[in-house]
Amino acid sequence: MTEFQPKKRVIDLSGQLQRFRQAYYCGNSQIEDEEYDQLKEELQKLEFEFPELILDDSPLIRVQAKPQESFPTRTHRSPMLSLGNVYSMEELRDWERGLQKLLNDEKLEYVCELKIDGLALSILYEKGELQAGVTRGDGSQGDEITPNLKTLSKLPLKLKSPLDLEVRGEVYLSKKHFSELNQRRQLTQEPEFKNPRNAAAGSVRMLDSNEVRRRKLDLFVYLLADGPLKPKHSENLQLLKDLQFPVNPETKTCKNIDEVIEFCRYWELHKDELPYEIDGIVVKVDDIQLQQKLGFTAKSPRWATAVKFSAEQAFSIIRSLETGVGRSGVLTPVALVDPVKLNGTIVSRATLHNYDQVDRLNLHLGDRVILEKGGEIIPKIVKSERGPEKGWPIRYPESCPVCDSEVSQLPGEVDWRCTNIDCPAQLNERLLHFVSRKAMNIDTVGPALIEQLTLKKKLRHPADLYRLHISDLEELERMGTKSAENVLNAIEHSKDCKLGQLIHALGIPHVGEKTASVLANKHGSLWKVPGFLFLKAKCSSLPERFLRPEKSGKKGLKPQAQK
Ligand code: IVH
Repeated sequence: MTEFQPKKRVIDLSGQLQRFRQAYYCGNSQIEDEEYDQLKEELQKLEFEFPELILDDSPLIRVQAKPQESFPTRTHRSPMLSLGNVYSMEELRDWERGLQKLLNDEKLEYVCELKIDGLALSILYEKGELQAGVTRGDGSQGDEITPNLKTLSKLPLKLKSPLDLEVRGEVYLSKKHFSELNQRRQLTQEPEFKNPRNAAAGSVRMLDSNEVRRRKLDLFVYLLADGPLKPKHSENLQLLKDLQFPVNPETKTCKNIDEVIEFCRYWELHKDELPYEIDGIVVKVDDIQLQQKLGFTAKSPRWATAVKFSAEQAFSIIRSLETGVGRSGVLTPVALVDPVKLNGTIVSRATLHNYDQVDRLNLHLGDRVILEKGGEIIPKIVKSERGPEKGWPIRYPESCPVCDSEVSQLPGEVDWRCTNIDCPAQLNERLLHFVSRKAMNIDTVGPALIEQLTLKKKLRHPADLYRLHISDLEELERMGTKSAENVLNAIEHSKDCKLGQLIHALGIPHVGEKTASVLANKHGSLWKVPGFLFLKAKCSSLPERFLRPEKSGKKGLKPQAQK
């Protein structure tokens, strides 16, 4: 019997895997997935046991041995937008009519793609080498999760040509790997993920890349965002395929909207046969010049739309009511219902939006209701009928459920509000908004810390964050000196934010992210914003650079680019 020679076996396995992988990408797979996985596992074990034998060009994508501490934030070269939606074939035809109007009745051809239910990523290559992978984040900046991206076995690390590219795609978890992951979590008594999308989103942002690799994430790319662009999107996809990127094989070029409709109808019926989850079809105008003519709205490209499959519905029964108090005191009724499965998740809460809606539906505890998931995370009640035992009617609360203060409805408004500006629930929401990513982006201050600090009366206003002393933090549960310093550093660092972020953070009614950025660009410094003296009095710790009168050439005093 010949002696086992690990070095020889490593070389053999590396060569075989390299060849199988190449064949796979060229569309003529020579081996079953399981067999491939077995070879890969064998090589993994050998590389683990004999690290000195690892080849420079090992086919295993190695990941950092040490978990990361956090992910750096990276700004996207161009914003990662979302898509407009249509919910029926009639709406799809209307969408096409709208495009033709803008394009003087130009004949349009389309590319239809499956809308993979995962997480959007931007992937950057320089001179043909993978440089970075960034999550969508808030659309203008996301987390750089490059080590985790490298665990995706289908993603080429090095292209055959030395190109500079930005590719966008969707990272997802197949149904099979999702159920395996949940089985493992059951065994270790960890909470199971509700659906593959949540599992993929959670996995991509894990700090330990070795665990990410175990979860076996997958990827489809769907857009060449930057690089040697061809005249048609379909040609760009072909280029991506030639460069060995995983492009979804079901993608189809359609000569007209009737073919698009046929594609949508087919997949609405057959979506459950796919090994991964999809939540609709993406239809894109094929001609890039026409795409450029059509351009974008503030949120999405005009040249593409998502055709959503008709919403799933579920039946349940209202058991009780919860009232949320927002940062401006708005009371939002939420029905607590018997848990039911809807679009792959168990839901037990349904938003009722406002008390006008409650009146309109004439809801009582015990009512039978039909729930539907719209674009929102919390499903809504679309229909109701009286249950066998008529329970208490649901009415607007006579006082705030948190601070018991008076509630009122302003003339012409549907919302009921808590009238107490010092209501702890309002304060909590104002603080959460203030530290949130699109506002002051203080990620070390989360809900638990805010709760502890407000209970101890250390925070009565967002400006109090800037008055915190290390001793205020060190005395809190599970807070050592190092963590306390991190919190204070992040708060200090937030003073470098853009002026628009600060205005947004103040939570002025009707001033959202966009209006705040318009105000910042117009005025350049708070000095020039009407009412600034009032703001200065209220927020005496506002970063000084926002308050000085404008002098040219100084940081923070000139209008800053706002996305
Ligand atoms: S195109 C500017 N194509 O859907 C156009 N998106 O609701 C960008 N998605 O954020 C999107 N499959 O995460 C496009 N074939 C596909 C897609 C797809 C899934 C996701 C993507 C995007 C979201 C928009």
